[in-house]
Amino acid sequence: MSITQINNELRFDENLFIVSKTDLKGNITYANDLFIAISGYTEKELIGAPHNILRHQDMPKVVFKLLWDKIQTGEEIFAYVKNRTKDGKYYWVHAYITPIYNNKSNKIIGYHSVRRSPSSEGIAIVEPIYKKMIEAEKNGGIQASMAILTNTLSQLKVSYDEFILAYE
Ligand SMILES: Cc1cc2nc3c(=O)[nH]c(=O)nc-3n(C[C@H](O)[C@H](O)[C@H](O)COP(=O)(O)O)c2cc1C
Repeated sequence: MSITQINNELRFDENLFIVSKTDLKGNITYANDLFIAISGYTEKELIGAPHNILRHQDMPKVVFKLLWDKIQTGEEIFAYVKNRTKDGKYYWVHAYITPIYNNKSNKIIGYHSVRRSPSSEGIAIVEPIYKKMIEAEKNGGIQASMAILTNTLSQLKVSYDEFILAYE
């Protein structure tokens, strides 16, 4: 079995990947079998739906802002994301999101996300930081939330990428 459940949390086999593609607006254009199985939606429900169909309330807005800022300018990004399934369960992923280019025009035509199962250590480190960021967003908005992330990184003396890739 590639998906296991502990309480409300789903985990997936560490050798497998959850894959999706979107158009330029973040509408899902492709989902692999594991994506469909873990999300609890049918392929029909997913294709054409905005990717925020999986958005979990425990995710800070800033993470998605960073994500979109990066990929829209042609960069790639790694991020820990907590996703909500159709029936209200959740699963953590370590996502690698990249632009998809048209070979001829070299223009961005969509985005690609490949997600693997994060380590428990990684989740344990990221979860309290996300909680603080969400609290900060309630009062101080995106800026206050970004400040929590920036301060955490500078205390640890690492870049965002080093931080996200440290707990494989
Ligand atoms: C390729 C790609 C994959 C994405 N995967 C997820 C995902 O797994 N979960 C998620 O909540 N948002 C994902 N997003 C971000 C969503 O498009 C959206 O920005 C986010 O859910 C926040 O939604 P909101 O701005 O409506 O709150 C993805 C975006 C792209 C381009």
